[in-house]
Amino acid sequence: MNKAAEIALFLHLLGVAIWIGGMVFAHFCLRPALEDLSPQLRLPLWESVFGRFFNWVGVSVLAILLSGALLMVYFGGSHANWQLHTMMGLGILMMLIFGHLRFAVFPRIRRAVQAQNWPNGARAVGTVRRLVVINLVLGVVTIGVAVLSRGF
Ligand code: HEM
Repeated sequence: MNKAAEIALFLHLLGVAIWIGGMVFAHFCLRPALEDLSPQLRLPLWESVFGRFFNWVGVSVLAILLSGALLMVYFGGSHANWQLHTMMGLGILMMLIFGHLRFAVFPRIRRAVQAQNWPNGARAVGTVRRLVVINLVLGVVTIGVAVLSRGF
């Protein structure tokens, strides 16, 4: 593997670690810990957490996409193996889901918190939870497919 591909793989894996690790932390650690708080406390906290986390994910997504494209060229482009094509498809699907979270669902949480409309805010946070679970499952499957791409 040449230097450019090594750097791309490093950035690719760093982005994956931040994105998947952040989702695991939010879903399995933060969410249960906040469950007993009243909506007045919980929803502004989620807004603040998502506001920061989604910026990190945005940068990670860019890194994964650009490094993934470079690696794809390195591994033969359209002649790359089916596992890499599957990774690209699943990765793009995860990115579309993230885009929906960031640009459609998150503004709903922000508006609900500003208007102190707690039922709407709680519904939007519930939507984030469901989509994060979907992206987590897709992410774990994608990592499995990445391992298969080595074709031991
Ligand atoms: C547009 C999306 C993506 C593209 C085009 C892409 C492409 C690639 C390519 C070409 C490689 C190099 C394979 C190798 O070193 O043998 C790679 C490695 C890897 N990718 Fe992706 N990827 C994408 C998204 C993702 C996502 C979303 C994840 C995880 C959630 C992921 C996880 C990995 C892992 C763990 C490796 C290391 C595999 C290894 O070196 O054995 N990728 N990716």
